[in-house]
Amino acid sequence: MNILEILKSKEVVSGNSIGRLLGISRAAVHKQINVLKRIGYTINSSHKGYVLINDKVLFNEYEIECNLKRSLKICKILKYYKELASTQTSVKKLAERNFDEGIIVIAEKQTNAYGRIKRMWNSNEGGLWFSILLKPLIRPEELSKVSLILSIALNRTLKEYKVDSEIKWPNDVLVNGKKIAGILVEMSAQQDRIDWLVVGIGININNTLPKELKNISISLKEVLEKETDRSAFLASFLINFENIYDDFQNKCFSFFADEYNDKLAYKNKSITIDDGYNVVFGINLGIDKDGKLIVKTTNGVEKIISGTLRLN
Ligand code: BTN
Repeated sequence: MNILEILKSKEVVSGNSIGRLLGISRAAVHKQINVLKRIGYTINSSHKGYVLINDKVLFNEYEIECNLKRSLKICKILKYYKELASTQTSVKKLAERNFDEGIIVIAEKQTNAYGRIKRMWNSNEGGLWFSILLKPLIRPEELSKVSLILSIALNRTLKEYKVDSEIKWPNDVLVNGKKIAGILVEMSAQQDRIDWLVVGIGININNTLPKELKNISISLKEVLEKETDRSAFLASFLINFENIYDDFQNKCFSFFADEYNDKLAYKNKSITIDDGYNVVFGINLGIDKDGKLIVKTTNGVEKIISGTLRLN
């Protein structure tokens, strides 16, 4: 429970009661009230206590926690910043300093964000831009599976908003044929084990897309024709992600293959895959139980682990 949840649950609440509920002193309560005021909340105080004037939708770690339907097991530390160069770069620095699995860094705006193959990633205010530090007990060659399950977590979350999405292999999430979210997974590994993974996720929620991206990208705001509370969206995503991550570590990847293939875009279509070394042309037959993409080429069937897919 955080101080915002307490203020939201009562019309007026005294500093003493808040202190008792949180196990902190009145002075510490006063300090936290000032933090909330600084980040944009209107809180009136009288001799009866504090009153939250709940008149705006704000996006910050307190709101995300208020929206969680259960407490998180892995993603326990949320850090929100108004502006960062890149949440990915920030979390990679934490990983190198040996921080524990589960820290999430969120930014309202990123000034130097990047996507796969170091492409620039547009991240203005209004979107959902975050990175998570993970330390799964898997072998480095299983990295690609993590990126596949992340797209399933996004599919499930969008479904809760009654939005049907598809996955463009390996992990672009599409709505109406346009990209609504991108996922980037970076790692540090030894020959036989992973030290850490940093998972970066960018979701176009209420952000306005620049003209040059309009043909290929879409935001949730365009799909739903209204703004979405990003704290609630991120809270749902984190719950979905933790369920999937748990299943992934306790069962094998094949558990997800059908769900992934159900959502796969361009199935049975002619595609090109470029992994930076080889280019493969063929028909997209979906993933196998190890998460490899099966492509029927003129030379037979090829199984591909990574690359960029284009529709021919
Ligand atoms: C892609 O589709 O190429 C992946 C895009 C990943 C973008 C996210 S936004 C949060 C995190 N910070 C970054 O700099 N990149 C990722």
